[in-house]
Amino acid sequence: MNIKKVCVLGGGGFVGIHIVNKLGMAGYSVRVLTRTREHAKTVAVLPDVEVVEANIFDPAELNRHFAGMDAVINLVGMLNEEKTGRIDKPMARRGDFHEVHIELPRKIVHACAASGVKRLLHMSALNADPNAPSGYLRSKGLGEAIVLEAGLRHSGPGYRLEATTFRPSVIFGREDSFINMFAGLLKLAPVLPLASPDTKFQPVFVEDVAQAFVASLNNSDTFGQSYDLCGPKAYTLRELVELVGAMTGYKRKIIGLSPRLSYLQAWVMEWLPGKKIMTRDNYYTMQVDSVCKGEFPRIFDVKLSALEAVAPGYLAEFSPYQGYRSAAGR
Ligand SMILES: NC(=O)c1ccc[n+]([C@@H]2O[C@H](COP(=O)([O-])OP(=O)(O)OC[C@H]3O[C@@H](n4cnc5c(N)ncnc54)[C@H](OP(=O)(O)O)[C@@H]3O)[C@@H](O)[C@H]2O)c1
Repeated sequence: MNIKKVCVLGGGGFVGIHIVNKLGMAGYSVRVLTRTREHAKTVAVLPDVEVVEANIFDPAELNRHFAGMDAVINLVGMLNEEKTGRIDKPMARRGDFHEVHIELPRKIVHACAASGVKRLLHMSALNADPNAPSGYLRSKGLGEAIVLEAGLRHSGPGYRLEATTFRPSVIFGREDSFINMFAGLLKLAPVLPLASPDTKFQPVFVEDVAQAFVASLNNSDTFGQSYDLCGPKAYTLRELVELVGAMTGYKRKIIGLSPRLSYLQAWVMEWLPGKKIMTRDNYYTMQVDSVCKGEFPRIFDVKLSALEAVAPGYLAEFSPYQGYRSAAGR
């Protein structure tokens, strides 16, 4: 397979920016589909990257935008369902797990077959499984199964869809929401009541995830495979938050909540206005440790970056000493 043109859905998001950037540097020509150009403005300025506003839930639009492409990368996903959508844009109303994590991959697989695209990379999540405890993980599991089965169902004379899926633990990097959220909370709150403090995570650097995607594109050994992606070290949530406290200089008292209080906190926070920090579905997701059974797949030739080496660089802005640093021109 000689892939040159790649269409990326969700290419303007946190992980997408890094993948699109790496694709560009590797010489691929990239088309990013987005609900609104504003969401993809960071990648729009890159050479060989075309940003197109599209209703990705419309099969006809998918067919049109996939035409002439050699591969498709689907990064579209959300941690929480959007309860209120913008009614002026029909595609923005598609905010539930079923539509985004299950029906969209199904439409993408069909559109690949209709437009002759033979390669599909799909972003799932660690622990994604049709029998998982949360709606997020169940829907991700069902979507991933559709993609992996696609190679079997969508093949015939002269056509076969070669799919690869990726299942990362929590991803860290300058624009992440997880580590940055805790840094923000620690800055604000003198005491932090922490839900599910003993759940384990194995954070993986966004650049390492991006390298795995780009390395797999043309590698036929990855066809039909699914890869768990984790960083070099596992931490309990409490250890992670303490580490963020140490990195930012906000060493707060952390009170680990019991399962019952964790659920209650999630239920209360679910109903607070604004961006969701925690929902009951997130609580259910955290019933399973987000850690890998094996090491990072060697096939991608990634030298893993540690959280301790990367995060201080982007958490510096939370530091109480940042004012002095800025004044000193650092
Ligand atoms: N970040 C992590 O720690 C992590 C861990 C495991 C798995 N993942 C998975 O990795 C993928 C990328 O995550 P990310 O952190 O980069 O997320 P992100 O920054 O929120 O980006 C996701 C992209 O998906 C699109 N999208 C989200 N909700 C949508 C909706 N309702 N309708 C249409 N498009 C929608 C958006 O594209 P536009 O706004 O441009 O249309 C957005 O840029 C997701 O599938 C996520 O589940 C992430």
